Parts: sequence; C-alpha cells; structure tokens
Amino acid sequence: MIGRAASYGVEVVGVSREEVDLEDCAGIRQVIEKAEVDLVVNAAGYTAVDKAESEEELALRINGIAPGVMAQACAARGLPFIHVSTDYVFDGSGEKPWSEDEKPNPINAYGRTKLAGEAGLREGRNCLLRVSWVFSARGQNFVRTVLRLGSERRQLSIVEDQVGRPTYAGDLAEFILATAPRWSGAPAGDPAFGIVHFANEGAVSWKGFAEAILQEAGMDTPVVGIPTSAYPTAAKRPANSVLSTEKLERVFGFKPRHWRAGLAETIEIMRQAAA
Ligand SMILES: NC(=O)c1ccc[n+]([C@@H]2O[C@H](COP(=O)([O-])OP(=O)(O)OC[C@H]3O[C@@H](n4cnc5c(N)ncnc54)[C@H](OP(=O)(O)O)[C@@H]3O)[C@@H](O)[C@H]2O)c1
Repeated sequence: MIGRAASYGVEVVGVSREEVDLEDCAGIRQVIEKAEVDLVVNAAGYTAVDKAESEEELALRINGIAPGVMAQACAARGLPFIHVSTDYVFDGSGEKPWSEDEKPNPINAYGRTKLAGEAGLREGRNCLLRVSWVFSARGQNFVRTVLRLGSERRQLSIVEDQVGRPTYAGDLAEFILATAPRWSGAPAGDPAFGIVHFANEGAVSWKGFAEAILQEAGMDTPVVGIPTSAYPTAAKRPANSVLSTEKLERVFGFKPRHWRAGLAETIEIMRQAAA
C-alpha cells in the first residue's frame, strides 16, 4: 500500500510488529492515541488457518480481541477504523454469492476468531472489509505456492470442489487509498461504514486458479482436480466462498476488475523482481 499511496495523495504510516504486538491491548491503545493520522487500517492478523485449530486462544487474542480495542481507541479520537476480515466467517453452504447481510457460521477456528473480531466493530465509523483468496507478488499465498510446486513437480493435484473469488492485494490497497478521503469525512451511519465485501470479479475453483497461474507464468505443468476429501487438512474449508460485491459497486461505485488482470500484474511484478 505504501508504494501505491503517493499517486493518491495519501501518506501511509506503517506500524511494525516490533512497534506493537496485537496481543498487547495497552500497546495498541498507545499507538493509536499518538498516531497523527486521519484513519486507521488493520490488515494484520493471525492467518495460519490450520494451525489455528490447535492455537485458537492465541488466534482469538489477535483476531478476536485486538480489532475491538483498535475500534475503541479510534472512536475515542474520532478516527474511522477500517478492518480486514474474511470469507471464512461463512460456512460455504449453497451456491449463491454471500452478501453482507447473510448470517456468518464459521466452520473452523480461524473463522470463529475472525467473527469474534467483527463483533467488536459493528457500530460507529468502522468499515469491515471482508476479502477472499488474497494473492500478491509477495508473502505466502496460493500464487507463489503454485509457481513453486509447478517448477518442482511433474503434476499438481488441486482441490476443485471449493469455489471463491480471488482478490489481488494491489487492487484492495488501491480501493482503500481511493476511499480514504470518503471514510475520513463521512459521519457514523454513512453507508461507507459497516460490512463491505471486496473481491475481484470472477469465481473459480482452486484447480482453475492454479491452471490460470501456471498458464500466466508460461508453465505447462498439468493440474489434476481432486475433491476436498482427498486433501485432508486440520481446518475445514467452506465449499462456496464466493462473496457478492453488489454493495461495493452500489455504495462506492467501485467495479472490481477480473482476477486474471490482477494475476497478470502479479506475475509481471515477479518477473521484473527476478530479472
Ligand atoms: N490471505 C487470504 O487469502 C485472506 C483471505 C481472507 C481474509 N484475509 C485477511 O486479510 C488480512 C491479511 O492477511 P494476509 O494473508 O496478508 O496475512 P499475512 O500475510 O499472514 O500477514 C499478517 C500480518 O499480521 C502480522 N501479525 C500477526 N500476528 C501479529 C501480532 N501478534 N502482532 C502484530 N502483527 C501481527 C504478521 O506479522 P509477521 O509477518 O511478523 O508475522 C503479518 O505482517 C488478515 O486479516 C486476514 O484474516 C486474508
């Protein structure tokens, strides 16, 4: 986000884990009390979905308690608070895209802790951005894993009965930067606050996503589709993770581009970094 901020006329101040640990509520309050900013964004969290099954208390402190502390500290200073949550608050049933007013029913520990965090910021000048299947050129994510495995193995077996909308982190960052002035000026009750689903256009299975990643990178490793039951994990995953972005388009006039465009940008950034 910092790299993209200048073109929006926004200055972003990052806060590292060394400056504040999200398990430290007093530390969180102190950082927000002192910050010279117009709004606060939290994209940090406990994200190890499988490990959370055995570390739910730790995940709950980071995902469940810290966001409410941030929201309160922001409210005390009259600052809007933007928090990133997840499609994993839903149980994945049915085939319809999930809208903001549907009832969450998480099926794993990670989803439960993220839902607990949402409860702390339902009121006031808070925007809860639920995103799904996030990828970028950096960090640990599906795109980077598929490229690594695609170069190591003769064939990949990827789950094909889970469907979602991949989200390019660069597009999410640009949406937040473009919307920052609106959030800063909007009063409580404005539709820019509350829950908003954000994902790129296009629903796909993990198998279809993997095929597109390899194709975009010019690799011909074959991909075989497998059912979830053939790839057991500690945490259950929702079968239908498709988020509806109707509200995003209606309230913000923001129509997300197709995830393939974000994927092409991601692969290009990786190519340039490797050159
Ligand atoms: N990735 C997805 O597909 C996806 C899907 C839906 C929603 N989300 C949500 O999107 C947000 C970002 O996800 P991501 O995939 O970018 O996660 P990520 O790569 O795992 O990054 C999480 C960040 O949180 C920091 N963090 C973790 N525990 C902390 C603590 N106790 N104190 C301070 N910082 C801490 C990590 O710091 P270190 O680097 O030092 O560990 C890391 O910088 C999360 O809220 C996640 O729930 C992600």
